Amino acid sequence: MWSPHVNLQWIIQSVGWRDLVIIVVTALVTRWVYFNLICVYLSPLRKLPGLPYRPLVGNMLDALSGEAMSTAIRWIKQCKSLTIRYYYFGGKERILTADPKLMGKALFFLSGDVHHSMRKLLNPAFSINVLQNMLPVFENKAHSMVSLWLEECRQAGNQPVQINVQDFMTRITLDTVCITGLDYNIHAIGSGDTAGVKIFTRYLRQVGGRTISSSFIPFYYHLPFAANRQRWEDEKYIISLIKERIQAKRQQYWDGCENTAAVKDFLSLLVLARDEDGQSLPDNLVFQNVTGIMFAGFDTTSVTLTWALLLLASYPDIQTRAREEVLEVCADPTQPLTHETLDKLGYLNCVLKETQRLYPVVSNTTRRALEEDNIDGMEIPAGTNIVLHLGALHRSEENWPDAEKFEPERFMSTTVEPYHHLPFITGPYMCIGSKYALLEMKTVLASILREFRLQLVPGYTFRRIQALSVKPHPPLMLAVTKLSHV
Ligand code: HEM
Repeated sequence: MWSPHVNLQWIIQSVGWRDLVIIVVTALVTRWVYFNLICVYLSPLRKLPGLPYRPLVGNMLDALSGEAMSTAIRWIKQCKSLTIRYYYFGGKERILTADPKLMGKALFFLSGDVHHSMRKLLNPAFSINVLQNMLPVFENKAHSMVSLWLEECRQAGNQPVQINVQDFMTRITLDTVCITGLDYNIHAIGSGDTAGVKIFTRYLRQVGGRTISSSFIPFYYHLPFAANRQRWEDEKYIISLIKERIQAKRQQYWDGCENTAAVKDFLSLLVLARDEDGQSLPDNLVFQNVTGIMFAGFDTTSVTLTWALLLLASYPDIQTRAREEVLEVCADPTQPLTHETLDKLGYLNCVLKETQRLYPVVSNTTRRALEEDNIDGMEIPAGTNIVLHLGALHRSEENWPDAEKFEPERFMSTTVEPYHHLPFITGPYMCIGSKYALLEMKTVLASILREFRLQLVPGYTFRRIQALSVKPHPPLMLAVTKLSHV
């Protein structure tokens, strides 16, 4: 009877140990040479301009060095092409593109059925009516933050005070994402670093980080590193809190308090959602979706706000113009902001678009070609990963004249070419929370601009770092002065 043990013994007896080792080593070397040297030179992608082949680490040491986004921008310039070939870890070839034509096509690669039906289920949660209900949450939190800043200014005798605005943006978005996500007020503004605030901030920043580390080290997440032990603790806390919230919501709607028109949190909407068979979602899907939304909406919005404040402080004329518009449209902080009021802030909208052009916090995303494809004569083998580099797209001189210049006016005078400006991507995976984010960011910026002048702290310099989002480092402090008209 066949058994691996008997077979191996037979092979060793007939070939001998020495020859066996030679055969195995030769097979491994041949495989390596074929996949790493021959395939590379036979690949249809060899016709693309690109970087020199490096077998083990690919071009990744270069990619990971320097400021976030800078290497991709440099590669594109160096190869004089908006689409290039480079090598990932293990010598795997990849396409990197900042070409609007290729972006337009790759972004419409089909999404799976599961993704499609989840997206259908989530769409109503981001309707204008729901967002309208969430607006007071953004406004209340902006008011609380402004009150704290006013108090600091008062104590400083209305001299400029230094404020860690990056920390405040983290807190305000944590507060809003917890209220609009879970109908749970964590009081990050004004409560210092409570255990809950620390745990939520860490957890929401790590949901993404975990996938990066674990893609390189198998079972990474299960290894007992101190950081992982911390994650397990945090996860236990968060899971139990969210489960409690789900049960509370199920109870609330079971008791018949259902008034969907007034709902202002994603958890309620998910608990009330019904699939095609009229069934409610099981707890695990509610959990997955609500944490997914919170994760996707937290760091992205807080860091984009930080970049906008940094740019407003760096360009006083632009700040003045944005403030004049705010004072014209919504000077009175006691009047509630509405969707219509915020729509009138056309210049502030351009400031945000230009901020997101220069600092797209999601600087790149990857799509995999499921089948062999041909885009504009370029043969793309099945399985090729295409890195759509928004940082390079937004800063390429071919796509944007004076690309490095901060110029919100460029969005006022011309219509933007399709696929030239994609901070929220487009296509089946486009950001579902873009309107939510814009509403929140305009509310926060308008509330700050009508009360304060923002200046850079003398000597402040920063570099872009790639954390979960591309953010400034060291964290942004600004000199904040109360305006005299207030
Ligand atoms: C300035 C803020 C934001 C930026 C720049 C941003 C950007 C993006 C981008 C680029 C994607 C696509 C990622 C990819 O395809 O790889 C995405 C997806 C997503 N975003 Fe946002 N986002 C922001 C705010 C928000 C907010 C506030 C929410 C929710 C409250 C949200 C929820 C989502 C969700 C659920 C997805 C996954 C969509 C899907 O897979 O169908 N985002 N976001």
